[in-house]
Amino acid sequence: MAFLEVKHLSKKYAGNDFYSLKDASFTIDQGEIVGLVGKNGSGKSTLLKCIAKSQFPTQGEILFQDQNLYAEEDMLEDFGIMIDPVFFPQISVLENLQLFLKIHQKEHYSNNIKSILELVGLWDARYRKPKDFSFGMKQRTALALALITEPSFILLDEPFVGLDPIGVQHLLQILKNWAQTKKTAMLVSSHQLSELEELCQRFLFIDRGQISEATPAEQKTILIELALPIQETELAQQLANLGARSSSDQIVEIPTDILLSERNQIFQLLAQAKLIKGVLSKRDHLETLFVED
Ligand SMILES: Nc1ncnc2c1ncn2[C@@H]1O[C@H](COP(=O)(O)OP(=O)(O)O)[C@@H](O)[C@H]1O
Ligand SMILES: [Mg+2]
Repeated sequence: MAFLEVKHLSKKYAGNDFYSLKDASFTIDQGEIVGLVGKNGSGKSTLLKCIAKSQFPTQGEILFQDQNLYAEEDMLEDFGIMIDPVFFPQISVLENLQLFLKIHQKEHYSNNIKSILELVGLWDARYRKPKDFSFGMKQRTALALALITEPSFILLDEPFVGLDPIGVQHLLQILKNWAQTKKTAMLVSSHQLSELEELCQRFLFIDRGQISEATPAEQKTILIELALPIQETELAQQLANLGARSSSDQIVEIPTDILLSERNQIFQLLAQAKLIKGVLSKRDHLETLFVED
């Protein structure tokens, strides 16, 4: 049984003539931290909002521990959600946490307030109001609210946006610490792969509402950056016959599971044609696909 299963989920907002999310299917296991990576406007928030039930999907279904998320009222009991700000700026952080627990009838988690505020570095600021906070402190207030009830599943939408590099490191540290101690599952979105790399065990990539997953085979691919696009069709054909693939006309992908002799022939052909500009890691390649425009 998957912990969370998203099946053929699509979302078209009223008035739009395009889908913001198209036939998305994936699963998340218990304790797994999954990164959701895509450019601005690719559909990250839409997906997270459908899982958080703040947007209703047009098609498809979401199962949480084998139960339809939309069938029951209280299915989000075990979720920690940081998508849109949910705190009140005019009351102190401490009062925000107390009020949040009261609204959700979870006052038995009051004992967690001190440890959570210490974890997010806001204990000393507990009597201050978020309206007077820096951006990073507001983010950490939202995170405290998402963590306070020790949820088994956490949704975080672009938690690093607006943070300086030290703030990003701090937040990563908090999330890693939380994941290690609690075995919580997380789905964390970002438009920058690099921020999520050290946190996530797996990645989902989203482009114009379409989800793809970096398969283990893709992760075991050597990527050759070409000095020139391959125009000569004969060479392109030879490379393809040997098992090389191309995702763009400037990149040749060589799977590592083809025969060594064939791999070497591919290198030779490219070298003879003086086409090799460099060898990319998968990460470099993904970054070229997912950097912001
Ligand atoms: N409430 C909405 N009404 C209409 N269109 C929306 C709404 N929210 C998002 N969209 C559109 O859906 C697409 C995906 O948006 P979004 O999920 O916010 O992407 P991301 O979070 O990756 O930046 C965009 O084209 C956006 O304009
Ligand atoms: Mg968004």
